[in-house]
Amino acid sequence: MKDKIALFVFTVLLLLTGCTPAKRDTGVNKEIERKVDELVRKMTLEEKLGQMNQISSWGNIEDMSNLVRKGQIGSILNEVEPARINAMQKVAMEESRLRIPLLIARDVIHGFKTIFPIPLGQAASFNPALAETGARVAAIETSSVGIRWTFAPMIDISRDPRWGRIAESFGEDVYLTSVMGAATVKGFQGDSLSDPTSIAACPKHFIGYGAAEGGRDYNSTNIPERQLRNVYLPPFEEAVKAGAATIMTSFNDNDGIPSTANAYLLKTVLRDEWKFDGFVVSDWASVTEMISHGFAADNAEAAMKAINAGVDMEMVSASYIGEAPGLVKEYKVKESDIDEAVRNILRIKFRLGLFDNPYVDVPQKEVFYAPAHLADAKEAAIQSVILLKNEKNTLPVSASVKTVLITGPMADAPYEQLGTWIFDGEKSHTITPLKAIREMMGNEVQIIYEPALAYSRDVNPAGVAKAVEAAKKADIILAFVGEESILSGEAHSMAGLDLQGNQSDLILSLAKTGKPLVTTVMAGRPLTIEKEVNASSAVLYSFHPGTMGGPALADLLWGKAVPSGKTPVTFPKMVGQIPMYYSHNTTGRPATRKEVLLKDIPVEAGQTSLGCTSFYLDAGFDPLYPFGYGLSYTTFEYSNIRLSASKLKKNDTMTIEFDLANTGQVAATEVAQLYVQDKVGSIARPVKELKRFARIELQAGEKKTVSFELPMSDLAFWNIDMKKEVEAGDFNLWVAGCSQSGTPVSFEVID
Ligand code: BGC
Repeated sequence: MKDKIALFVFTVLLLLTGCTPAKRDTGVNKEIERKVDELVRKMTLEEKLGQMNQISSWGNIEDMSNLVRKGQIGSILNEVEPARINAMQKVAMEESRLRIPLLIARDVIHGFKTIFPIPLGQAASFNPALAETGARVAAIETSSVGIRWTFAPMIDISRDPRWGRIAESFGEDVYLTSVMGAATVKGFQGDSLSDPTSIAACPKHFIGYGAAEGGRDYNSTNIPERQLRNVYLPPFEEAVKAGAATIMTSFNDNDGIPSTANAYLLKTVLRDEWKFDGFVVSDWASVTEMISHGFAADNAEAAMKAINAGVDMEMVSASYIGEAPGLVKEYKVKESDIDEAVRNILRIKFRLGLFDNPYVDVPQKEVFYAPAHLADAKEAAIQSVILLKNEKNTLPVSASVKTVLITGPMADAPYEQLGTWIFDGEKSHTITPLKAIREMMGNEVQIIYEPALAYSRDVNPAGVAKAVEAAKKADIILAFVGEESILSGEAHSMAGLDLQGNQSDLILSLAKTGKPLVTTVMAGRPLTIEKEVNASSAVLYSFHPGTMGGPALADLLWGKAVPSGKTPVTFPKMVGQIPMYYSHNTTGRPATRKEVLLKDIPVEAGQTSLGCTSFYLDAGFDPLYPFGYGLSYTTFEYSNIRLSASKLKKNDTMTIEFDLANTGQVAATEVAQLYVQDKVGSIARPVKELKRFARIELQAGEKKTVSFELPMSDLAFWNIDMKKEVEAGDFNLWVAGCSQSGTPVSFEVID
């Protein structure tokens, strides 16, 4: 009873103060700091460098154990066998001089065994709780084998779908990425890092990696500091606030400086400004790759530059352990800086509770693919799907449909639908759309399955002809197309984004049968699918939806669930439009939309008769789908927007209220979005920026008042004086179901 009263008072206090219990282990823990200092004092230089050295498991446990015994390894990645992990921890804890546990790491990007939708798909849900749950499930499964560190979330702002790693990102928007990234960190790390089911998060890649020129992986970036601070850094700052234990540097050089040697970002920004007290790890060999960058002459110079810039742990390239003793001797690296790096690493090992218990129980296999995990993965997949088109209410599939043709290379591709970065997920656990629809519909409908193409790049014309023939017998066609998982992810950039192989031909040929055609696209990125959209009656975009993608899509197709996803990134019509993102600056010559397009240009037209504004003669003004776009099986109406004040001081908070009605026939969820435009600034400002969003569930015919709180401090940006400030002036504000809809209301910020 006493406990209950205490809990009640606590809750009331929370409500009054508006704060939530701290979920982070950051902040000085004197006991841990004392232990860290004590250990560092005892360590030889070699042992210190050992802690800063991460190897990738090379299989031979004897060799690795020998190095562990000598204190030459601080962390191992890519070791997933619990018995081997326990054995090496035993060597570390019982046979190494200082008994420092290993930190075992793995890329667990969207699930360990139970695979959730790729992060870009998760972002389409606009649901941070979903990302947190997905990360929690991943942490439970991952930690069960003794791995306590993942290299995720990837929070690189990604505005170029040619870049294969856009799949791993939360898309183009600063706020959406910040919110989803912080939620993922919380999911991985749980309430406390010391919980044995918590794994340390590693937001990556610091910084600007998503802006690789031309979308070509590893390419240089050229992001000026103001843009870095306004666009690329905020998600990392939020991740640090959420307690992220580690940060990974990126491969790219920005303005000539490889991130792995950028002292300004790693020290001034990350440590001094944000007070980050975890540790920084390089990317895979990104220390010695500074030699290829032409930024270091040899391993020694590379190690020197990375250590001096503040990279605490080196992933796999072993230049620290090889070269730092010499560098210290030559006074090129200070031992005190090495001590600092080791402190950062040990602090996290202590927080993870590894010194108390680095071992894992005999593998708890029952946590893999646990029913609750599969249910969460299915819900995540449902919420990640975007309904792009639904002509004449083709969807949900009507009860009168008796014969269904299921076709396309992604209809039954258990491996491909898992997406990129799934080292540990097994396709034998995947449920594909074909399997799920068969199970769900039983004898209610007759299913004809004609894959047409064996995989997404297949060019077999005979298969297409067979599917077209089969379509003639069907009441509806469900075509599943997209990309094999290998076509997105690291190093898998594409210069063209059309559907591969004969997939386009398949869709266009099926359309000619005149049967209702529902196209579902499973891909790692937005593809240029304008003509396939035009040919289809309805289009669902599911990205790579993971283990439970099939049941999720079956529910959506038959209306047992209603689509609610929204595009987390702009879908271009043509590759030449890239980069294309909603939050661009206003140019001096915005298009008026009255300009003459290619097909209407008169012969021998005068040079200046075409508009002199910012647009493409061939692609026009708009993307295929803008950011934040997505349909439902119902319709929503936004009305009656009210602002708590139309003039606010810089430290005021505005309450924005509006009515949202479900004007259709089914219960559904709408992602309501709030955008703001700072009309005049000391620098040119974006045409609009997402500032809030919420998933609102509404019964058919129901109307709700929705409210957002927006502190004016959220309007601050890095201005002409390179200061983060709210600038007084006029603003526009929209609440809408997409970045391109709604009517603005205005307000003013005063000094
Ligand atoms: C990737 C990282 C990844 C690391 C370890 C690198 O190639 O860029 O994102 O975490 O490998 O696998």
